[in-house]
Amino acid sequence: MSADATDEFPVSSIPAANVSSVPLRSPLRYPGGKSWLIPHLRTWLSQLTERPTIFLEPFCGGATASLLAIAEDYADRAEMVELDGSIAAFWTCVLEHPDELCERIESFHPDSESVDQLLGDTGDTILDSAFRTLIRNRTSRAGIIANGAALLRSGENGRGLESRWYPQTLINRIRDIQHNRHRLSIECGDGLAQLNQYAGKPKTVIFVDPPYTMGSKQPGRRLYSYNEIDHAALFEILAASNGEFLMTYNADPHVSELVQQYEFTAVRVAVKTAHATVRNELVITRQRIDL
Ligand SMILES: C[S@@+](CC[C@H](N)C(=O)[O-])C[C@H]1O[C@@H](n2cnc3c(N)ncnc32)[C@H](O)[C@@H]1O
Repeated sequence: MSADATDEFPVSSIPAANVSSVPLRSPLRYPGGKSWLIPHLRTWLSQLTERPTIFLEPFCGGATASLLAIAEDYADRAEMVELDGSIAAFWTCVLEHPDELCERIESFHPDSESVDQLLGDTGDTILDSAFRTLIRNRTSRAGIIANGAALLRSGENGRGLESRWYPQTLINRIRDIQHNRHRLSIECGDGLAQLNQYAGKPKTVIFVDPPYTMGSKQPGRRLYSYNEIDHAALFEILAASNGEFLMTYNADPHVSELVQQYEFTAVRVAVKTAHATVRNELVITRQRIDL
């Protein structure tokens, strides 16, 4: 199998979005987040033949896609699923305890002492867990929440731990999400099980962005605490369901093989990394759409 075995897929007619050109709605700066995919998601959702009642995001992380689907009114409801309890706790608080979360954001000033103290804190209310998740996300390198992630040192413009801390922006994003609270839900659990339940239901569309842990490079391994996925089962469920989905993966020959085995289609998108290099990602759908 050649290392460039994904070259058989055409290059997408839509370039990856520059993050400065799309609305950023998530309070999390999520590793592997999908802001660059917003133009593809809009194109896919606006081409659907019927309006979905449910937009399912079984590996939600920073939930860029669910927030887009609801804020831009492509679906009635978004159901988000996340296995990492700290991330799920964060979304639960955004949806159910926004005032308390915003109060904590307003009164926190990140420096090495306050961040150390907070991250070492063992407070175990859902609000404690949610706030620790947010602080870890905004003060660690590349937003990585998984254990062992290093904290920002010099950060942007030498502002260190504060360089990604924009309290008013975070509060505004939480308030905006709150406007649509009744149309969003979060479940802490296994996305694959949830996918199995929903796939193929009428008026349901699914956005699948699993940890990239197939093939040789497996970039998702170091980014997430939960990263073991039965990728073949994931493809199998989608293939058996006949439902509408859009899925992303790293461009890897093993992914390519599954795309071909299940007769899905894919396009390649060149995505700029934070280190100014470019990596290819695959946008996979059942039938070819104009992406
Ligand atoms: C690539 S990230 C999703 C990023 C997201 N699309 C965004 O825009 O921020 C994959 C997520 O899946 C979660 N995850 C891993 N295994 C899971 C499982 N079995 N069920 C649900 N979520 C899982 C990880 O914790 C991670 O947050």
